[in-house]
Amino acid sequence: MRQEEKRNRVEKAVRSFYEEKAVAPHLVESVLYSIQAGGKRLRPLLLLELLEAFGLELTEAHFQVAGALEMIHTGSLIHDDLPAMDNDDYRRGQLTNHKKFGEALAILAGDALFLDPFGMIVASALPDAVKVSLILELSDASGSRGMVAGQVLDMEGEHKQLTLAELQTIHANKTGRLLAYPFIAAGLILELQADIGQLLEKIGKKLGLAFQVRDDILDLVADFEALGKTPQKDLVAEKSTYPALLGLEESKALLTSELDACEDLLDQITVACDFDPQAIKNLIEGLRIDG
Ligand code: IPE
Ligand code: IPE
Ligand code: MG
Ligand code: MG
Ligand code: MG
Repeated sequence: MRQEEKRNRVEKAVRSFYEEKAVAPHLVESVLYSIQAGGKRLRPLLLLELLEAFGLELTEAHFQVAGALEMIHTGSLIHDDLPAMDNDDYRRGQLTNHKKFGEALAILAGDALFLDPFGMIVASALPDAVKVSLILELSDASGSRGMVAGQVLDMEGEHKQLTLAELQTIHANKTGRLLAYPFIAAGLILELQADIGQLLEKIGKKLGLAFQVRDDILDLVADFEALGKTPQKDLVAEKSTYPALLGLEESKALLTSELDACEDLLDQITVACDFDPQAIKNLIEGLRIDG
């Protein structure tokens, strides 16, 4: 299936969830404003491409799981942009949710996007045991053991010089956990043997860290047009970032070597089972900076 169709079907799964039983239409409007603004859809695409790479034919349930992940990610962006956090006016090329709908509704839209995904997974047509594992892992990756914890450490780290190890912990949690989820979820949906599942998780974690290093680099070097969000926010907030700690060139070199390592690990899976890594490699290639 083409990537464009995958994107459309993920978006449709999320839209259907919100339009089916709209109790507060203004809340649905606010949620869909941020969802439909687009974004790269990297996390859902990774999951869907992984499932296909192992030969699975995609069904509605897979788009629902992919959509659930994109919902949590989008909720994290809405909250990340709030004045009490990074205080951003633009996201995905348009005004941030709180700028458009006010802070109260933006907070509640984020709340909805954190809670609804679990019901959406339960409602999907997958075996119960698989759904329970998917929910357990998504909760773990998102909440006080994952993304939310990383966001707290990120806030506490402002205006301080952190060590590289401290920064790595922040990045691994605030971004790495949700980026690793597609790899973990693919292993669960495909009911892969434990060693392949662990290898996938390792790739996901590596890619997750690399992705935040990339985000830190782009904050410094890219413009509004390319980012769809305000550039150089990290400098203003005095955030510890990879470029701030290692310098720009070393950060770029690290990004390159981590992406290379992810591709090498993908090749290892092809040795162990029937797996076509090309589509995932294409997504990874899209994350390179400077070629
Ligand atoms: C931005 O994520 C926030 C981080 C976790 C670094 P993305 O760069 O994936 O944002 P979208 O989904 O494309 O807007
Ligand atoms: C955000 O990191 C991570 C999450 C939203 C969980 P950033 O604060 O660097 O993301 P951007 O740069 O605003 O997208
Ligand atoms: Mg932030
Ligand atoms: Mg931010
Ligand atoms: Mg950033």
